[in-house]
Amino acid sequence: MRVIISILLIGAAIGAATFGMLGLQGRMSRKPPFELFPDMDRQAKLRPQEPFSFLANGVSSQLPPAGTIARSEPIQTAGGPVYPFENAPVNTGYVTGTTNFVGLNPLTVNAALLERGRDRFDIYCSPCHGKTGDGNGITKKIGVMAAVANLHDKRIVEMPDGEIFNTVTHGKGLMGAAGPLMPTPDRWAVVAYLRALQLSWLGTTNDLTAEQAAALK
Ligand code: HEC
Repeated sequence: MRVIISILLIGAAIGAATFGMLGLQGRMSRKPPFELFPDMDRQAKLRPQEPFSFLANGVSSQLPPAGTIARSEPIQTAGGPVYPFENAPVNTGYVTGTTNFVGLNPLTVNAALLERGRDRFDIYCSPCHGKTGDGNGITKKIGVMAAVANLHDKRIVEMPDGEIFNTVTHGKGLMGAAGPLMPTPDRWAVVAYLRALQLSWLGTTNDLTAEQAAALK
C-alpha cells in the first residue's frame, strides 16, 4: 500500500515539475517563453547581405571566386549556348523580368528536334491528349480523364510558345507538371513538335507548291 502511494506521489511530483517548467503551450503571455534548447532558436549564423566586419567588403554575402562557372550544362539555343539560370527565358518561357511569354521557341527547330519532340510527346502527352493532340487519349477512353484539352483549339494554336512551355513545365488543372520529369530541352522539343501537329491540321492546299498542287490533281 505504502509503495503504491509513494509511486503515485512521485508521479504527481514529476508531472507538476514538467507542467511548471513547460507551462501550457499556446497560452498568451507577456513573459518570454521558457527555452529548453535556446541554441535551436538563436543560432550564430550569417543571413544574406548582413553587415559583417570580419570580411573585407563588410557584408556577409560574397561574390563567387573569379572563374567560377555554372554547375549545369549550357542549353544549345538558336542564339548560342545559354546556361539555364533561374530567370533565363529558356528556363521559364518568360521574357526575363516581365510577365510576357516568349513568342518563339529559343531552340533551333530542325528535324532532329522535331523527332525528339515526337518521341517525348508520344510518351508524356499522348496518354491524355492522343497521338494527334486532339484530346482523345487512352485516359479518356478508359474514363480516368473526363475532359482533356484539344491542342488544336484556336486558343492554344495562338498561344505563344513560352506559354505552352510553361503549361508543360508546371501543369494545369488535372494535367500534372512535366518539369520534374523532362529536361528543359525536351520540353521545348515537345513544344516544337506540337506546332508541327497543329500545322498538319491547319494546312490547306494553298500551302502546297505549284508542283505539289499539280501532282495532287
Ligand atoms: C494526365 C493527363 C495529361 C497529360 C499527361 C498531359 N496533359 Fe495537357 N492537359 C490535360 C488536361 C486535363 C488539360 C486541361 C487543363 C485545364 O484547362 O484545366 C490539359 C491542357 C493542356 C494545354 C492547354 C493549357 C491551357 O492553357 O489551356 C496544353 C498546351 C497541354 N495540355 C499540353 C500538354 C503537353 C505538351 C503534354 C506533354 C508534355 C501534356 N499536355 C500532358 C491533361 C494532360
